[in-house]
Amino acid sequence: MMQPALELVIAALEKIRETSDRAPRVSRDALAQLRSTYSLADSLREAHVAPARQQLREASANKAQMLAAVRERVCGCTKCAHLARSRTQTVFGVGNPDAEIMFIGEAPGADEDQQGEPFVGRAGQLLTKIIKAMGFAREDVYIANVLKCRPNMPAGSFGNRAPTPAEMQTCRPYLLEQIDIIQPRVLVALGAVAVEGLLGERGTMRELRGRWHSYNGTPLMITYHPAYLLRNQSPSEKRKVWEDMMQVLERLEKPISEKQRNYFL
Ligand code: URA
Repeated sequence: MMQPALELVIAALEKIRETSDRAPRVSRDALAQLRSTYSLADSLREAHVAPARQQLREASANKAQMLAAVRERVCGCTKCAHLARSRTQTVFGVGNPDAEIMFIGEAPGADEDQQGEPFVGRAGQLLTKIIKAMGFAREDVYIANVLKCRPNMPAGSFGNRAPTPAEMQTCRPYLLEQIDIIQPRVLVALGAVAVEGLLGERGTMRELRGRWHSYNGTPLMITYHPAYLLRNQSPSEKRKVWEDMMQVLERLEKPISEKQRNYFL
């Protein structure tokens, strides 16, 4: 409150200096008052900003603790007995408990099952590239899947399968807890299966992607899964994902550089 008033006084004095032949004259008393107003404004700012910062630090530590508690329950989860038997480990989620953006995929693949972290395989490397192009580090955002276990595969077969609706329904509450704790400003669902897992609704990507939806009041952007982009290397599909991510940046009021605007994944 004090700072704008002080800035007004300074601006007025500068105007006088520019428009008049003589330098503006200020009495010693007026100068002393201005100085004390200035230091009062500083100490008021300190008095409010420091506790607010401390509160933010505590809230963030709190979120980390709450996430750790959910992670522990997920680690011991046997609700889908077939997945609990086949998994190497559960894959909970990774990133900043205070993230502004939360990316949601479908389920861990073979690489994620081995490493215990979402999106570390080829699709994950592409997701990391997208996150970096947006101006973030992987550690700044939060990444999770609808399913915390890798969908099991018949013995001797390769690749990954999509989660079933029943598996997603069983695991969904864990994802919702993660969202409730993190309270990101924006959610990004990667692919139609992730959308189904989150919203319980099936749709085609053609009708879903590129526009804002909402999950429980949080803006939700739907875009293609990076694995789709690996299968379909056409520049126009990659550009669509990038345009969706620029909408996310705009929603977060992040500046978008010319280089970013012209970027192609
Ligand atoms: N695909 C996903 O949906 N999630 C992962 O963690 C990896 C690949």
